[in-house]
Amino acid sequence: MTFTRAIKIAPSILSADFANFGAECEAIEAQGCDWVHVDVMDGHFVPNITFGPSTCAAIRKHIKGVMDVHLMIAPVDSYIDAFAASGADVITAHLEAGPHIHRTLQAIRATDAKAGLALNPGTGIDAVAHLLDMVDLVCVMTVNPGFGGQKFIQSQVDKVRALRAMIGDRPIHIEIDGGVTVETAPLVAAAGADVLVAGSAVFKGGSVANPAPYGANIRAIRAAAEAAQG
Ligand code: DX5
Ligand code: ZN
Repeated sequence: MTFTRAIKIAPSILSADFANFGAECEAIEAQGCDWVHVDVMDGHFVPNITFGPSTCAAIRKHIKGVMDVHLMIAPVDSYIDAFAASGADVITAHLEAGPHIHRTLQAIRATDAKAGLALNPGTGIDAVAHLLDMVDLVCVMTVNPGFGGQKFIQSQVDKVRALRAMIGDRPIHIEIDGGVTVETAPLVAAAGADVLVAGSAVFKGGSVANPAPYGANIRAIRAAAEAAQG
């Protein structure tokens, strides 16, 4: 993974057909996405359950590019090696998932995966200042994690702008997750984000049998974000 601040579109397979993950991953890559975003939920840290490392390992075979694994689980440390072994290129854990986020990031850095740090909407960026040498990506949640299709939380745009200033020249991605659409993508791109996760906005109108709408949706979000990027 070469670092660049170019806009990257990362469809969340939370909005894909769960009985067809392999074909869905192949379809979104063929339609021009950059990363594939994989949401892992435990029914404890967030009020929803998806799947674990064995599913990640199974879909890995159908992803040519970056597999971006977003862990919404607590505890998280004891599962990091299993997600790394599943073939994750990026492993993102939540700041709120436990009392020892520095240790969690150390554990991710001990694998071959890049280390991501996710912040819930109610969490400020102060703690990130002490973790900048430990992260490759900061994920700003623009919805409360747990479900796709929620409304973008506008107050997070200022947070992205402040985070971008804090990061400066460091090679750290800013990822946005939740409620990203053609309308909201420009707001976060202008504020400094480079990785845009989008679930419902990418998968709407399409299917494995008819994947062309995925491509149109990806291109529309990318164009809106690139036009706004500073
Ligand atoms: C939410 C997940 C997101 C979600 C985004 O907890 O982390 O990745 O799938 O879905 P949309 O783009 O529909 O808000
Ligand atoms: Zn996510």
